[in-house]
Amino acid sequence: MLGIIGGTGLAVLADLQVGRRQIVRTPYGETSGPITFGEIGGKSVAFLPRHGNGHTITPHKINYRANIWALHAQGVHDIVAIATVGGIAEHLGPGTIVIPNQLIDYTHSRKHTYFDGLGDGALQQVKHIDFTEPYDASLRALCLVAADLAGEKLFDGGVYAATQGPRLETAAEINRLDRDGATMVGMTGMPEASLARELEMRYAAICPVANHAAGRGDSLHAIKYEEMSQALNLTMERVHGIIEKLVSVYGN
Ligand code: HPA
Repeated sequence: MLGIIGGTGLAVLADLQVGRRQIVRTPYGETSGPITFGEIGGKSVAFLPRHGNGHTITPHKINYRANIWALHAQGVHDIVAIATVGGIAEHLGPGTIVIPNQLIDYTHSRKHTYFDGLGDGALQQVKHIDFTEPYDASLRALCLVAADLAGEKLFDGGVYAATQGPRLETAAEINRLDRDGATMVGMTGMPEASLARELEMRYAAICPVANHAAGRGDSLHAIKYEEMSQALNLTMERVHGIIEKLVSVYGN
């Protein structure tokens, strides 16, 4: 089954016919909330908003291990994550949508692996997952097909810098990320992607750009949060359209 993880600006899935909500117990503690199972256009989908139902969980406090484990335990083997970003590259201005193909992890102190002796069975063996390509190529391709069907232009490829947050970055930090090769910046992309890989799930991200990153474009002197939410609401309507098509082309 396909699972959608919602981010900032996407706390409910439009068009979802809700079947049931399930609280899942995990060896890693509580998830961000119950998983909603339902259908879009007759196709099953599971949905979990990572910041919780009232958007109360900050990026560094999200229990990524519990969220991914719970989805897996409920039969979700493919995850498309919606993760809002700031645009670093010039072509990624507010209102654009991008499907990253690479990432750089700048987060710290997050519980980021299942291979720490807590799990059972295969998770007790230490395994060094291959993470050369952090996003699944076939799932990314499906997202691009869905966007096409929805009539939305997506940028195919980009480097996601995952920062610790919850504060936004300084202009100098963004310059450094740029020199590192990052084209967008967000706070939730890791360890979500690597945990999914540890459980051998396919994972891809759709990243709506809410703002120019600090020191860039109209964020030259400050990021204006109000304007950021407005831009995001409009972009999220388009993301809903892409998700609807994604569910329809996904083979259950
Ligand atoms: N930085 C980090 N995370 C973000 C940003 C940003 O500028 N915009 C949306 N999420």
